[in-house]
Amino acid sequence: MIEYLLFIIINVITLITCSYCPIKHIHSSTPTTGFIESPGYPSAFSAPLDCIFNITTAASNVIQLSFVSFDLASKNQLSDQCLDSYLLVVVVDRHGRQHVGERLCGNQVPLSINTMQSWMQVQFVTTSTNQKHRGFRIQYRILSEAAIQEPSSTLGESMFSGCGGHSTPGQLSGEILSPGYPTTYPKNSTCNWLIRVEARQRIYIRIVHLHLAPTIAECERASLTIIDGYKHEKYGIDRKESTSETSEAKFCGSQLYYAEEGMKSYLSSANRIVVRFITQEGPPSSMIGEERIGFKVVWTAVEGLIGEGDESVNGNSCKDQFMCHGGQVCVEQGHGICASRSRLCIHSSLVCDGIHNCVEGDFSDEQHCYSREIITSAALGFSLIVLTMLVLVCCDQFRKRRRLRVMIRERRAASENGKCKNMNNNSITTRIQPNR
Ligand SMILES: *[C@@H]1O[C@H](CO)[C@@H](O)[C@H](O)[C@H]1NC(C)=O
Ligand SMILES: *[C@@H]1O[C@H](CO)[C@@H](O)[C@H](O)[C@H]1NC(C)=O
Repeated sequence: MIEYLLFIIINVITLITCSYCPIKHIHSSTPTTGFIESPGYPSAFSAPLDCIFNITTAASNVIQLSFVSFDLASKNQLSDQCLDSYLLVVVVDRHGRQHVGERLCGNQVPLSINTMQSWMQVQFVTTSTNQKHRGFRIQYRILSEAAIQEPSSTLGESMFSGCGGHSTPGQLSGEILSPGYPTTYPKNSTCNWLIRVEARQRIYIRIVHLHLAPTIAECERASLTIIDGYKHEKYGIDRKESTSETSEAKFCGSQLYYAEEGMKSYLSSANRIVVRFITQEGPPSSMIGEERIGFKVVWTAVEGLIGEGDESVNGNSCKDQFMCHGGQVCVEQGHGICASRSRLCIHSSLVCDGIHNCVEGDFSDEQHCYSREIITSAALGFSLIVLTMLVLVCCDQFRKRRRLRVMIRERRAASENGKCKNMNNNSITTRIQPNR
């Protein structure tokens, strides 16, 4: 009887000590790496457990996970689900949305989870005692956002070039062309371009030209997608139903389908954008010989945004920069259905650079450049004339003065000559005098 009681007590104690798994907070505001492991790794763990690893970092960093070793009970054979013990990775994106991954179990080492987010939760759940499996060991890496390159590109036809790339640090504006523009584009390709500006800036991107296929239905053939650089991609399902339309814009067919003002452009939420061009086939034969096949986009680093009502908030950020004039966009002419355009603050070096950098329909940064040129040249001309006149006047004065000086000298010389004659006369007279 006593032995039996002892056995129960020991069991309870082991259960309490082993299942005690407090939430583990891992936070680093600077880049670092570390490991998370199942309790007791690499020894077996005792059930039941429910552990949470809460990994967070500063907004300027991102978190990536790679699995070093992984050995949990395999899937339940009847239900084909991870039941006895499993790992769950939840990625929380920058909008606070939770992306929940699949339950991970078995002994196949899962693929790395590379995110652009700064908050991740790893949950480990086990419901039955298991002495056979070693558990898991995961390396987490906290990286600076600046260190994250564009996704890789693949070019389906080797005679093309210019598929993918990235902006250079400090760049304020740029242009991206599809490979082969403006005659054709390659098939079976994925091109990724990363546009990254300084952390305080945003990116405004505008389609200058788009002609990929005759109809908008041919998205499979070729498409252009502009993706927010912090969009959470590839992993997990959204726990909450969310509209991802703000973090991505996709374009197919040709620009004729995006005729309304504002449809051909995109403003990022932060300092990164990925431009992705995906093709399966080249342009259809019906398009051969047509002009300007492919796409051309222009991007601009935006210092601030003057929207309706928040002028006072963002007004300061436009200091020393050029404030686009914005203006009104009217849906139907004459019906008075109008809205104000977004007013961008752009670097003053982008004014009159030959590329229109403000929002669609707002040409204020390239307006009056011609007249400005005229004003500049007129001002330059005027100052030249004034300068010439000054020089002439000075020369004239100088010449006059010189002439005067010459005259004075001549006169002096002449009068001196006269004196000499007199003196000569005198000498003669004096010479003659004694002979007298
Ligand atoms: C994880 O950490 C974040 C930030 O510190 C906190 O807001 C959140 O509540 C934590 N999650 C859990 C489950 O404790
Ligand atoms: C497309 O490219 C992939 C590699 O990038 C290759 O494996 C595949 O065979 C190509 N398909 C066609 C139809 O060329």
